[in-house]
Amino acid sequence: MANDKQKTYWSEVAGPKWLSLEGAMEARLAPVSTAVIAAAGLKPGQRVLDIGCGAGRTSQEAAQAVGETGYVLGIDIAPPMIEAARTHAAAEAQPGMAPVEFALADAQTERFTPPFDMLISRFGVMFFEDPVAAFANLRVSVTPGGRLAFAAWAPLAANPHWEIPLRLVEALVGPGAPRVPHAPGPLAFDDANYVRGLLEAAGWRGAEIRVEPVFLHGASLDDEARVACFMGPAGALLDEKKANDATRDAAREAVRGALPGFATVLPDGSLRLPAAIHLITASAP
Ligand SMILES: C[S@@+](CC[C@H](N)C(=O)[O-])C[C@H]1O[C@@H](n2cnc3c(N)ncnc32)[C@H](O)[C@@H]1O
Repeated sequence: MANDKQKTYWSEVAGPKWLSLEGAMEARLAPVSTAVIAAAGLKPGQRVLDIGCGAGRTSQEAAQAVGETGYVLGIDIAPPMIEAARTHAAAEAQPGMAPVEFALADAQTERFTPPFDMLISRFGVMFFEDPVAAFANLRVSVTPGGRLAFAAWAPLAANPHWEIPLRLVEALVGPGAPRVPHAPGPLAFDDANYVRGLLEAAGWRGAEIRVEPVFLHGASLDDEARVACFMGPAGALLDEKKANDATRDAAREAVRGALPGFATVLPDGSLRLPAAIHLITASAP
């Protein structure tokens, strides 16, 4: 089956990690959802497909934007994410929102009918084994003239909340295996020309990839040091090197010390972390 490795990774490793930090991740990434929803320009009554929806927060925001005459389907390849999304949706449905449903599906191969008006994603489209096949499949899942609006991470150098912890962890455990350019993972779409090329190859038109600065939210120096050494490239390197508890403690301590050098510490102790995403839009012919 396509994307077996990512399905296992998101079901057994990254998904459970994400869900264990869910409140922090949602607060952290809220500005990215806002950017995706704004780029999508959603209108009442539209049918929206949220790809790699995770715990479904962006699907819920889309449901508010399209209103009760619209419809939102969130899909994800990992069962724990879909389970969490369904639980939240049941608890948080509000009058005036579109119906929201969630389905376990691989966006690369599942055929979605009837077609959607708009595809959205917050960081859920960088994990395909065959991105051209995936985007071609998604193109036939939208109506003619339908659009996509996706967020993916811009290069590491524009994301100090990841790059600085990664360098600090490298200093402790040594470098990781060399990164294969464009390999499935959080930074697979860090090259705008590559993304434009694959969207065109998949039959999308008018692709625009804009670098959008955003400020992520960190709850506190301690929390952010914990998140940075658990998720993202620094967390992945600690896992790759099977770091012991003492090394992980040292990594968190080093990151905590470095954070005030690039993040703004607000009077309530929370953090404003500069970051950059690629905001990707395109249309189906
Ligand atoms: C970084 S998380 C983002 C989750 C969510 N969009 C959010 O921002 O909270 C990436 C998500 O993409 C999902 N994913 C990875 N490959 C997929 C595929 N081929 N089809 C559908 N979902 C996929 C993962 O299971 C994971 O939930």
